[in-house]
Amino acid sequence: MIATRTAWQIPRYGRPEILTPVTLRMPQPGPTEVLIRIHASGVTRADGMMRKGEPLFARPFLGLRRPRNGLSGTGLSGEVIAVGNDVRRFEPGDMIFGEAGMRFGANASHICLDEEGVLMPKPDDLPHEDAAILCDGVLTSLHYLRTLGQVQSGDRVLILGGAGSLGSAAVQIAADMGAEVTATCSARNASFVASLGAAHVVDYANEEVMKSGAGYDVIFDTLGVVSFSAARPALAKAGRYLCPVLTVGRLPAILLSRVVGRKRALFAAVGLEKPQSLRDMLSEILTKIEQDHIIPVIDRVFPLSDLVEAHAYVEAGHKRGNVVVV
Ligand SMILES: NC(=O)c1ccc[n+]([C@@H]2O[C@H](COP(=O)([O-])OP(=O)(O)OC[C@H]3O[C@@H](n4cnc5c(N)ncnc54)[C@H](OP(=O)(O)O)[C@@H]3O)[C@@H](O)[C@H]2O)c1
Repeated sequence: MIATRTAWQIPRYGRPEILTPVTLRMPQPGPTEVLIRIHASGVTRADGMMRKGEPLFARPFLGLRRPRNGLSGTGLSGEVIAVGNDVRRFEPGDMIFGEAGMRFGANASHICLDEEGVLMPKPDDLPHEDAAILCDGVLTSLHYLRTLGQVQSGDRVLILGGAGSLGSAAVQIAADMGAEVTATCSARNASFVASLGAAHVVDYANEEVMKSGAGYDVIFDTLGVVSFSAARPALAKAGRYLCPVLTVGRLPAILLSRVVGRKRALFAAVGLEKPQSLRDMLSEILTKIEQDHIIPVIDRVFPLSDLVEAHAYVEAGHKRGNVVVV
């Protein structure tokens, strides 16, 4: 009998219903690859953008009519069940987590990935559901706040979208760095966001947060809800406006702010950083989790067979933290 695996295909860009379950031949690991039986994988807002082919200007890179790879999912956690001849870091039976990156295909029963990619041993006491989402909000927020934002103890940091995947991690990380954190969310999430470490919580529907002269050292706009020009007056003299959502409209501000004035607008595609540097950050994140300084936030867990429903839930735009399929 031929061994098979299940996965979810994106046959063309579109709504969640476009996602199609497929049965594929079980891949054999190449010399430096591991075959992973996936226990949990993330469903992120970025995965939804990939499914929709957004932003449009990225399509030459992603694939013109459908994603180049055609499979859904990036973050995952599972068990190594076979390894290639040259694999040194892992062996069958190891529990590992990480991300498929531009290879995609994590919303599946199995996947083959290179051992030198963003893969890490999973601590025994970390559930697969928690491990599967670390490469989204937690890793991205750490990179943004530390590498781009250079947050220091005592800084005043504003997180826009404090209840989402990036936001819920960013509030915890910034507070752990010793910053005084202000975060926005809806009224229903106010006590949740405060419990993550926000000293001040602002209801974005009813209060103005972008006040001129507010003097934030860093504004992390996790959802791209304001422009750099709107954020500028609320920044301190050499303040940094960080936004992980790249649009054509944001590009001029990012380029111009490098040469004009002291306030900066900054963007990075974290998944394109070197795997070794991402693995180093993940090691640090595991230590922070062990010390209870960061707690992975899981909103809902769906069975893998309900990936369409999971995408629709994420698409609604009000998830709290992260969504996982198992
Ligand atoms: N550049 C990179 O490397 C990179 C990496 C990963 C992700 N990203 C991008 O980062 C973005 C953020 O993703 P995410 O997963 O964190 O989003 P998310 O979890 O889907 O965001 C959902 C949250 O947004 C909140 N929200 C909605 N409207 C809001 C508003 N106007 N103000 C404040 N909060 C609001 C909702 O809270 P309420 O229910 O309280 O309204 C909800 O909790 C995505 O566009 C993703 O593509 C970029």
